[in-house]
Amino acid sequence: VSGERPEHRVLEQAAAELVRMPAAIAFTSGYAANLGTLAALAGPEDLIVSDELNHASLIDGARLSRARVIVMPHLDVRSVKRALGERGSGRAFVVTESYFSMDADSPDLRELREACDSTGAALVVDEAHALGVLGPAGRGLCADADVAPDVLIGTFGKAFGASGAFVAGCPSLIAWLWNRARTFVFSTGLSPALAVAAHCNMQAAFDEPHRRNRALAVAATLRNALTKLGLRLQGYGHIIPWIVGDPGDAMRLAEDLRGRGIQVRAIRPPSVRAGTARLRLTATAQHTATDMERLINTVACVVKSGLG
Ligand SMILES: Cc1ncc(COP(=O)(O)O)c(C=O)c1O
Repeated sequence: VSGERPEHRVLEQAAAELVRMPAAIAFTSGYAANLGTLAALAGPEDLIVSDELNHASLIDGARLSRARVIVMPHLDVRSVKRALGERGSGRAFVVTESYFSMDADSPDLRELREACDSTGAALVVDEAHALGVLGPAGRGLCADADVAPDVLIGTFGKAFGASGAFVAGCPSLIAWLWNRARTFVFSTGLSPALAVAAHCNMQAAFDEPHRRNRALAVAATLRNALTKLGLRLQGYGHIIPWIVGDPGDAMRLAEDLRGRGIQVRAIRPPSVRAGTARLRLTATAQHTATDMERLINTVACVVKSGLG
């Protein structure tokens, strides 16, 4: 009803510019953005094709929309094409993340775009974990693949170190969400203070490339050293999943490392597939050479003692 301030408009415009989309709308969180967007766009006549590892907010948004949902095997474009072939008279949406936070891998966005274009489906991409770090100047993986999704979601709470989120797309999408996304309409908006913080941090991530380069360099060094220690790592980039397998082992390992001053969490089923419990390490721009050395030595010690 009211409460839209210049701070929100500035943030929305900057977010749209970051991802080179015409317009954007700010939400209080990524959860609210995904829930509200999918529920506002799709309905019972429609089809949503969703990657099996999509974030809970995308799953819940799809459920709330009451569309038919086909869950595709992770990153499997052939399954997407097959699913789109089964669509009825309603609209179809292909929903994916650009950089999956549990597996640190990415879909082939060009192929997904082509699959959508050849069937008239819309492509919805959540860039929560990519923006600010991956892609040209941290603009994300859609920019990297030169793919324009129909709906792009970004969050301010990850690389941008604030909180909140945005949805970017064409002006009619933004107007629709403004009026129809229930998590936007029926919830107090992002505070102007948070909008300013998110904008400043987003600008810093963009203007100060050494931060992004540093995070990626730390990730490369850690991946290299940990692989040499015989660890089973997965994916690429700043999220480093260390696959342990057994949930109990993962918990014990995480606890042991925390006891030695390494901040790490175990991720277990159902967050990840059975038999793939893991520790998730995250490289940041603030990790120093001493931090890395300490992590590598500590992990080496743990592995030697048979825990890893
Ligand atoms: C891919 C993805 N989208 C959305 C969200 C939700 O964002 P927020 O924490 O801002 O609600 C998360 C995790 O937090 C996420 O990993």
